[in-house]
Amino acid sequence: MKLVQILRKATEFRKSASISHNHIFSSRRIHSLAPQSASFGIAFDIDGVILRGNIPIGGSSRALRRLYDDSGNLRVPYVFLTNGGGVPESKRASELTKLLDVNILASQVIQGHSPFKQLVQRFENELVVAVGKGEPALNVLSVEEYASYFENIDPLAQYKNWTRKLTGNHNGPSREMATINDPCSQRVKAVFIVSDSVDWSRDVQVLCDILSTGGLPGREIASQPPLYFANDDLSYQGLFPTERLGMGAFRIALESIFNRIYPNVLKYASYGKPNPSAFRTAENVLMQVVPHGSHPEDGRQRTFKTLYMIGDNPSVDIRGAREAGSPWFSILTRTGVFKGEKNHANHPADLVVDNVEQAVDYILRKEGISS
Ligand code: G3P
Ligand code: MG
Repeated sequence: MKLVQILRKATEFRKSASISHNHIFSSRRIHSLAPQSASFGIAFDIDGVILRGNIPIGGSSRALRRLYDDSGNLRVPYVFLTNGGGVPESKRASELTKLLDVNILASQVIQGHSPFKQLVQRFENELVVAVGKGEPALNVLSVEEYASYFENIDPLAQYKNWTRKLTGNHNGPSREMATINDPCSQRVKAVFIVSDSVDWSRDVQVLCDILSTGGLPGREIASQPPLYFANDDLSYQGLFPTERLGMGAFRIALESIFNRIYPNVLKYASYGKPNPSAFRTAENVLMQVVPHGSHPEDGRQRTFKTLYMIGDNPSVDIRGAREAGSPWFSILTRTGVFKGEKNHANHPADLVVDNVEQAVDYILRKEGISS
């Protein structure tokens, strides 16, 4: 997979360079936020709020443009707080820039797996397996490549005509993994579920093998290596009219099977929303998005009076913002997972609107910022 690549890109977070697209808002301008800038910030969910698949929805491009003044200066700090991922933050920012025609920096993108960068040092030079769609990475083996070292580990592989054939002559892992020569004789030290699994049957099988044997498929039962999920979303809104199964659904499948078969219960940690830490990260990043000119002159750290979370998923975005507490204010849109008329019964938002454009309109009016 792409874990270390993603993680390395993520550590470049604050250094993010300008994006070389010819868009109306230059990166020079995005850093010159008006000195008397807002005492509030916005965190946008992506899937079901800004995009469905790769299609902008709910007037998202227009809504984002309203966060800049006529000269292209950013006047409201904002970030994307998504549980999605599978690409480095810099690439995601570049994709969003193209789709939305607004210049978005890597530092404005927080993905479900962004916190994994904190674990890089702990597992450096160890055999680590990563699961999920996306690009290959350095120093980490994708589950696809890892499985290719173990003949017959996936008894259904021969029927999967659509898959790439990775089996055959191996001269060691294809990634830059100096310390890993033969994955068949080294224990896997950790498993990261970075993005949605593309082959549940293979991945559940191979993960059961790794996690039940202390990291060496085919061996005796041993203690489980750590397992990390980038999020625990049961479902999310893609292009299909009804929600699609997310990483949380995959986790339930793996956990149910593992706990029925093996003596020890599956242990894991999940990141992303609704964990309060995701909202704390967003708040910290929002402070970085604000450039020097708008920081208090006496050197105190800037504080926000209100932080708006605009999301489509009540049990993830709204619950998370509510549990994060002050200064978070939750806004639920009807463009994604939530499709109700009134508020959500179990996780009511502070405000329900039809789409993100209405949400931004509400925020700017409430904060006294004219268009
Ligand atoms: O896989 C994507 C998904 O689980 C949620 O993305 O942007 O709605 O947090 P988002
Ligand atoms: Mg969403």
